[in-house]
Amino acid sequence: MERILSIETTKYIGKEVKIAGWVNSRRDHGKIIFIDLRDSSGLVQMIFGQEFEKDKTAQEMRPEWIIEVEGLVNKRPKGMVNPKLTTGNIEIKVKKLKVLSKAKTLPFSIENDGYEINEEKRLKYRYLDLRRNRLRKNLKTRQKVIQFMRDALEKQGFIEIETPLLTKSTPEGARDFLVPARLQPGKFYALPQSPQQYKQLLMVAGIEKYFQIARCLRDEDPRADRQAEHTQLDIEMAFINQEEILDLIEKLYISIIKKIFPEKRITKIPFFRLTYKKAMEKYKTDRPDLRRNKKNPDELAFAFVTDFPMFEWHPEDKTWGAEHHPFTKPQTEDIKKIKKNPEKILAFQYDFVLNGQEIGGGSIRTTNLDVLTAVFEVLGHKKSEIKKKFKNYFEAFSYGVPPHGGIAPGIDRFLAVVLNEPNIREVIAFPKTGDNRDLMMDIPSDVSEEQLKELHIKTKKK
Ligand code: AMO
Repeated sequence: MERILSIETTKYIGKEVKIAGWVNSRRDHGKIIFIDLRDSSGLVQMIFGQEFEKDKTAQEMRPEWIIEVEGLVNKRPKGMVNPKLTTGNIEIKVKKLKVLSKAKTLPFSIENDGYEINEEKRLKYRYLDLRRNRLRKNLKTRQKVIQFMRDALEKQGFIEIETPLLTKSTPEGARDFLVPARLQPGKFYALPQSPQQYKQLLMVAGIEKYFQIARCLRDEDPRADRQAEHTQLDIEMAFINQEEILDLIEKLYISIIKKIFPEKRITKIPFFRLTYKKAMEKYKTDRPDLRRNKKNPDELAFAFVTDFPMFEWHPEDKTWGAEHHPFTKPQTEDIKKIKKNPEKILAFQYDFVLNGQEIGGGSIRTTNLDVLTAVFEVLGHKKSEIKKKFKNYFEAFSYGVPPHGGIAPGIDRFLAVVLNEPNIREVIAFPKTGDNRDLMMDIPSDVSEEQLKELHIKTKKK
């Protein structure tokens, strides 16, 4: 007999089936044992009758053991139907039982939401934590959202292209994770903070519509909305303007909500629009929470904040930084103005905001290399070094570059907001702790002297 999923059992009333999964709960009623079996599709109730009274295995069987059973699907008597369970109108009278794997008592309960359990413990035993219904649902929803994005963009002529993880340090604003290059002693790759340069080079390559569900790695101190690794819906388009990009994102997110989160209410369609200046004046933040009722868990206030300043002043070291990144197009091409009054220059930069969280950011890019050079000069690079430092970019653009721009909505933050989760860890299968450790894999970890030698690296003993 072939195994079927618990959810399919309702189609087999009066017939024998084989199912397998985890013992979710056990209730002993005199000589009869009730077991709820859990598999990836849900729960189903099974009955072990008197014939199992002397069966050692059945008597010993405990929660989280993995079993396979064969049995008869019976309609439940009226009054015994459980409307809370998809399979609540049937039960399985077990005939054969096989234990596939025994299990120790779990270090914590997986019955409820689990918020009250010590998080370090949850992360250490993440594979058990993920048995929890809430997290399983979050992962399923995450997949649905990503699949929806892929389908919607493919229909509009986008191509998903993977870009390298071993790449070059890019000025995206955070610290890089570096990887030593064994074959080039003393040199390093950087893990991508985002595929920014690659996606722009794909525009030079003539791919007019690119997207990628992209992993981005930034060596930052994690917070509730920040992880060392996060996932972006990374988008870039050629021959496009700001309005068209925002329009694409607005339509995409409206359809995601309608299809996957029909219980949610969007505060305003079209989404709120405000300039950075207005947002700062009125709300004192560039990511205002524009919900009408902040207590309502099903309200979503999407907003686009536009016209950011091109540069931000870093008083600590008295330098200018790029508010988004240096490839962003300033709203003027007057190089003199850019260099003389950086504080006055606005950029074609936009943020995508949801309920007070920045869930995306993007910009139209500079394709004028003189302007780009001026921007780098403001950022403190020497004119003579700029072409060398960003050689790939300058050289590629000299072969012809279409006007282009893009955006990258963060998938983890969006999911955390729509799923009402307090931390993006709750929507990521294997997240890291507040100090960037993975307690389950026990990393970062030591490596052997041999490995370090091969990489031409010496570590200082603490
Ligand atoms: P940006 O740096 O604004 O833009 O990132 C885009 C979006 O990614 C999410 N995000 C994060 N989510 C979780 N943890 C993090 N550490 C983290 N960092 C960023 C946010 C953010 O809005 N290359 C540009 C995009 C572009 O210009 O097209 C970029 O990466 O939701």
